[in-house]
Amino acid sequence: MILVTGGTGYIGSHTCIELSRAGFEVVVLDSLANSSSDVVGRLEQLTGKPTVFYEGDVRDEALLAKIFAEREVTGVIHFAGLKSLSDSLRDPLAYYSSNVAGTVAVLKAMQVAGCRTFIFSSSATVYGAFQAMPVNEDSVCAPITAYGRTKFHVEQMLSDLQASDPAWGIVSLRYFNPVGAHESGLIGERPLGTPANLVPYLAQVAAGERSALKIYGRDYETRDGTGVRDYVHVVDLAKGHVAALQHLARSRGHLVVNLGTGRGTSVLEMVNAFERASNKKIACEFTDRRSGDVDVCVADVSRARDLLGWSAEHDVDRMCIDAWRWQSMIDA
Ligand code: NAD
Ligand code: UD1
Repeated sequence: MILVTGGTGYIGSHTCIELSRAGFEVVVLDSLANSSSDVVGRLEQLTGKPTVFYEGDVRDEALLAKIFAEREVTGVIHFAGLKSLSDSLRDPLAYYSSNVAGTVAVLKAMQVAGCRTFIFSSSATVYGAFQAMPVNEDSVCAPITAYGRTKFHVEQMLSDLQASDPAWGIVSLRYFNPVGAHESGLIGERPLGTPANLVPYLAQVAAGERSALKIYGRDYETRDGTGVRDYVHVVDLAKGHVAALQHLARSRGHLVVNLGTGRGTSVLEMVNAFERASNKKIACEFTDRRSGDVDVCVADVSRARDLLGWSAEHDVDRMCIDAWRWQSMIDA
């Protein structure tokens, strides 16, 4: 059985479906700090199986001990954590507590239970600015926010842990820009308040909930002056976790892997793709650059292909079609 922390969240819920499709049994632990219990029923609907769900915090050591005592957990995929860059600068202790101390608690419980297979949700944000693109996993990391540093600290802790006990098999997955939703329209990303990220914002403009997209900067060193990113469909990303788990069935160590498509898309190209998907005109206005943004961030995906046998399948048109279907379902 695979314990999925943060399993009712955006990426975790899609991963539960792909795990189930691949024949794994799943147990979910989530505090519902940034997700809804509705997702549990949706997962049951999509997998055709009951979802074993524990509501609680990953820092709750007694709860972790109870889960490991009650379930035969053979591996953990650890999504639970906080993810807003701006909040992490306002309240770094909340981020270190949830993301670093939370991970320590999970690893300790695993150690006691004798479970040594762990997959960690890391982020391309660990690379920071000033990288040659496409960026590979051996590049020197220099995260520029508290959030990014929590991810990098955990990766380093995982290397130390694995060096102390070679029985551990660990994969840290550095996600690029996860977007899109499940094709059923039943699960997707539900941002609270004003979306900080491009695709959820585009979806709300297309739905008439916001008047215009503000494009942050038109003077970047890119083909049309707007920022270029490596958007990856959340279902492809979910399948990357299954591939990582299958990799850990045959080897130990701590492997760090980028999950992206290797292709960059500019903000204006993404606006066009969303207009095609939604059949709506999207009003845009150019504003100043957002602080901390880089010109281009694209993954070197050769390690994922060579070591995990994983490559993303969906293009940005499909990402926007699925994001738009999800937006239309939540508005219905
Ligand atoms: P999400 O907020 O949708 O999911 C995280 C889930 O964890 C939520 O359901 C939340 O309720 C739960 N949670 C938070 N703190 C918890 C705690 N202390 N105990 C138990 N549950 C807790 O976010 P997501 O987009 O699905 O991201 C999942 C992971 O991937 C996070 O660790 C995030 O940092 C990482 N990540 C996300 C992105 C992205 O763009 N979405 C990019 C890179 C990395
Ligand atoms: C952001 C985070 C990153 C995180 C990623 C995925 C920052 C600086 N970085 O990355 O750490 O891993 O989300 O969650 O926040 N854009 C607009 N208008 C908008 C929103 C975005 O023009 O309203 C532009 C941005 O300038 C950027 C592109 O769209 O060029 C993508 O932005 P976003 O979706 O926020 O992702 P990142 O900035 O790559």
